[in-house]
Amino acid sequence: MLGATGLATVGLAGCTDQIRNRADAPSHHVGGTPTQTLPTDQLPVGTSASVEVEGRTLLLRREAEEVVHAFSAVCTHQGCTVAPATESGQDVFACPCHGSHFAVDTGVPFGGPAQKPLTEFTATVDGDWVMVTL
Ligand code: FES
Repeated sequence: MLGATGLATVGLAGCTDQIRNRADAPSHHVGGTPTQTLPTDQLPVGTSASVEVEGRTLLLRREAEEVVHAFSAVCTHQGCTVAPATESGQDVFACPCHGSHFAVDTGVPFGGPAQKPLTEFTATVDGDWVMVTL
């Protein structure tokens, strides 16, 4: 028998799926806890990295000393894992499955079948660490 808490959990999960699958769903994740992802000395300005954090693959991009971006590595086309790449001298996040590319500073897709941007997480530089709110 489900108590009130069980029913609420089932209801929220269904709601989350409905929101996630909407074409106009927000691409920015609203999370909770800032989490250490990578020491800042391992992400110099102008570089990108892929990191595993709490079971998720995240894409990090450092644009300036205090400006970092973090995105989910889950491709918005069919869910393959997107990775940092350099193509024609341009840093991109690239999907190996069907060739979608995403801008490293916005997560916006170009040059492939993906239509929605990568999900973005709030990222900050906090001392010696890149912090991401998951
Ligand atoms: S799953 Fe990434 S382009 Fe298709």
